[in-house]
Amino acid sequence: MAEPNAIADLIRAAAEARTRAHAPYSTFLVGAALETASGTVVTGCNVESASYGLTICAERVALTRAIADGHREFRRLVVTAVSADPTPPCGACRQLLWELAGDIDVILASPDGERVRYRLSQLLPVPFVGGLGARVATRPPARRRRRPD
Ligand code: THU
Repeated sequence: MAEPNAIADLIRAAAEARTRAHAPYSTFLVGAALETASGTVVTGCNVESASYGLTICAERVALTRAIADGHREFRRLVVTAVSADPTPPCGACRQLLWELAGDIDVILASPDGERVRYRLSQLLPVPFVGGLGARVATRPPARRRRRPD
């Protein structure tokens, strides 16, 4: 397996992608950098539509671009938005990331250098996996056992 990229390089790649965001309606610019298991970095930015619901988030642009390029194993995702606080992926992105990338690290980086790291399973603890079977175990963590009535 290839050496991981330096986290600072991933953040730089996400920030560069953010400059290409097409967000005339919200003006909320977002960039994402997805690192594959082989160390390739695939970036994305949000792309908005005048029909607002058609907007695609930066994370899903990076992920679908990576899939289209033939990548199937992923290590980390960096997300950076023009906001004072680190911005986590929306629910739709969490779902798609879970299905296609599994339990990766998700690093949220604010423009002024604040960084927060989660596992995707922390952000989406009980994912929907449909009828196709779980890519990653969907059992709740042991500490969340149900109490007897
Ligand atoms: N957005 C992202 O690109 N990623 C997120 O994680 C949250 C939201 C975009 C969608 C839309 O273009 C803008 O941010 C405002 O919601």
